[in-house]
Amino acid sequence: MRATRHIASINDLSNEEIGAVFELALSYLDTLGDPAIPHRIGKSTEIASGLVLATLFFEPSTRTRLSFESAMNRLGGRVISSADPATSSTAKGESLADTVRVVSNYADLIVIRHPRDGAARLAAEYCPVPVINGGDGGHEHPTQTLCDLFTLKQKNTSLKGLNIAIAGDLRGSRTIHSFVYALARFGANLVLMPAKGLELPSHVDRRLREEFRCIMAKPPADAGESGNIDALYVTAKEPHQLSLIPENVDIHVKLTSRIDALYVTRLQKEREPGRNYGEYPTVDAEFLKGPQYSKTSVMHPLPRVGELDRKFDSDVRASYFEQASYGVPIRMALITLIMGLAKEKSLTRYPNGFSTSKSVHYEDPLREGLACGNANCITHDPLEQASIHPKFAIVPAPNSSKSILRCHYCETDIDDFVLAQRQAHTFTTGAAIQSLSAKDFAQHLFFSDGKAAKAAGYFPAK
Ligand code: NCD
Repeated sequence: MRATRHIASINDLSNEEIGAVFELALSYLDTLGDPAIPHRIGKSTEIASGLVLATLFFEPSTRTRLSFESAMNRLGGRVISSADPATSSTAKGESLADTVRVVSNYADLIVIRHPRDGAARLAAEYCPVPVINGGDGGHEHPTQTLCDLFTLKQKNTSLKGLNIAIAGDLRGSRTIHSFVYALARFGANLVLMPAKGLELPSHVDRRLREEFRCIMAKPPADAGESGNIDALYVTAKEPHQLSLIPENVDIHVKLTSRIDALYVTRLQKEREPGRNYGEYPTVDAEFLKGPQYSKTSVMHPLPRVGELDRKFDSDVRASYFEQASYGVPIRMALITLIMGLAKEKSLTRYPNGFSTSKSVHYEDPLREGLACGNANCITHDPLEQASIHPKFAIVPAPNSSKSILRCHYCETDIDDFVLAQRQAHTFTTGAAIQSLSAKDFAQHLFFSDGKAAKAAGYFPAK
C-alpha cells in the first residue's frame, strides 16, 4: 500500500523531492504550455482522470485555491470545494478533525487553508488521504514557496550563493517562513529587512541558524547614510540580528554589491488584530535605484495592498506575475507526485526531509501541564479540544545540555520549563531532558514554571 504523504511544512519535502517537483513542472510547461502566453498552462492531460481534489478553505484565497483547482482540472481530475467557513459545518461548531475525516471519503487529496497555526498538521493526523497545507495561520505556506523557488530557479543557474533580501512583515508572513527555510536549505544567503517590530519569529530565526546552518546578514552600519538604503533597512540595529553575522565573512560588501532577489509581502494585519503597526516599507523604482538592485528580481506572493508600486509592473525586474503564473504547473507537478501518478517518480520514494516527526515527542493527553505558548496554535482552538492535545518535539540545543520543547503543530519553541516527576511528586528546573525517551515521559510532566508545578501539587526536588 502507498504510504500517505502530507505536506504541512516545506520541511516535509526533501531537496531532492523539491527538485523532482521542479523537473515535472518544467515538463508540464514544455508539453502543455500556451505557446502564445509565457509561463501559462494552456492544455490539459488525463493523468489524474477519476481522481477528486477537495479544497477546504477557512480563510480568503484567490491564487492558492484557484491555481490548485486549475491544476487538478488541467490534470484531468475533478474538484470539490468549500471556500467559505460560513457555509460549511464549521459554522455549526464542527471540528477540523471531524471535517477532514468526513471529506477524506469524498476526495483523494485535500488542500486546506486555515487561520490557526499548525492546522494542517492536525488535519493530517485525522486524514487517511494526503493533506497539503495551503497556508495555516502565520505558520507556513509550503506550496507558495515551491512557486517562489521555481521562479528563482528559472532566472538563476543555482539557488546556492544567491543573495535574497526579504522585506516587510517577516513576523506574520507564513510565505516568508517557508521561503527562508527552503532558501537556507539550498544554500542561499538571506538579507533580512523587517519593518520595525516585524522581525522573524525567534523560533524561525533559531532553526535557520541551528538546524539549517544559514548565513544571514544585517545591513551595513552606514545603511542609513548611503542614498535610498535608509528606506530599505528598516531595522538595521536589532541586537539579535547582529549576532547572526558569521565571523570572518565580509558579508556587507558581498551583499550590498548584488541583491539577486527582493521578496516583499503585505503587512499581515489579520494575524494580530488591534496591534498598532508602525511604518511599512514601500517598494518602488526609487527604493530600487541603487546599483546592488540593477539585476534584482522583485518578488511578491500577492496580493499587494500598497507596499509594491503598480508603476513598477512594467520594469524588467518585476517578477511577481510570473511567480503567480507558476502556481498552476507547480501544483500540477505536486499533485502528480504526491498521488504517485508519474511512472518514474513519486514522492513516496523519498524519505521525509527535515520534519520533526523524527524527534522524540512528549505528549500530554490529559492537558495536565504545559500548553503551547503560541495563542494562535491549533491546540488552543476551542473547536479542537477533543481532537488534539499538547505534543512537543524534544529538540537538543547545539553546544548545550539544554533542550527545548517545540510544538509539534505550530513549531513554536518553549525555552523555559520545569520537569515534574509523577511518582516522587517533585519538579526540577533546568533538567537535562535529552536522555529521556518517549517511555520515560509517561512518568514525567512539564510545567511552564515552578508556580504552575506547585499549583498542580508538585514540590521542588531537594
Ligand atoms: C499569501 C498568503 O495567503 O499567505 N497569499 C498567497 O497565497 N499567495 C500572501 C498574503 O496573503 O499576503
